[in-house]
Amino acid sequence: MPGLLLGDEFPNFEADTTIGRIKFHDFLGSSWGILFSHPKDFTPVCTTELARAARISDEFKKRGVKMIALSIDSVEDHRNWSKDVMAFNSEAESPLPFPIIADDKRELAIKLGMLDPDEKDKDGMPLTARCVFVIGPDKKMKLSILYPATTGRNFDELLRVIDSLQLTAQQKVATPVDWKPGDKVMVVPSISEAEAAALFPKGVTTKRCLLGRNTCGTLSSEETLKINPH
Ligand code: BEZ
Repeated sequence: MPGLLLGDEFPNFEADTTIGRIKFHDFLGSSWGILFSHPKDFTPVCTTELARAARISDEFKKRGVKMIALSIDSVEDHRNWSKDVMAFNSEAESPLPFPIIADDKRELAIKLGMLDPDEKDKDGMPLTARCVFVIGPDKKMKLSILYPATTGRNFDELLRVIDSLQLTAQQKVATPVDWKPGDKVMVVPSISEAEAAALFPKGVTTKRCLLGRNTCGTLSSEETLKINPH
């Protein structure tokens, strides 16, 4: 049975977190959101991930993205682990800059398809995988990534995909392989060459292939920055 699909409204779940009980849509407000899950508190890979997420939390803030983590432990464990994570960053006096959802009954993990059948706790219960959901201001799911518990994520890639999602939400463009802000973007294939020329007055470059065409819009880095002003 398919779980949550791109474009689906993200469930407005209620949950206990390190900042109290939340209703997810109220927590998001009109912001973008990123929800990332972890297998277990106090585990090494998870600690490196949360520590990195904390160190670059300003980058998410600049992009207007609210962060929230999740794992299958209690609020009390999460609060203690948050202190450990900040100590790992040599910032023991600062709070973790985002909340963690306590999914100790695995209700959300099951509902959102986040369990990793290959990784179990000491009681033989499956742990959560490393899921990422990016949710748009319209509360619809814009991206999902699912890694097994044994593979840590790349948070630079998460910022990069958010840049692409936010740009392509506003312009009829797509971002090519390994794109970074400021690089050329592609004109979406459904747009004709005439429309593309009107949309990109500074010009487009078209590369003809054997059976199709690839039109590259010269959306300059200044224009990209105007859309994505960080
Ligand atoms: C970890 O975070 O180190 C981890 C958690 C579950 C399985 C494997 C590694």
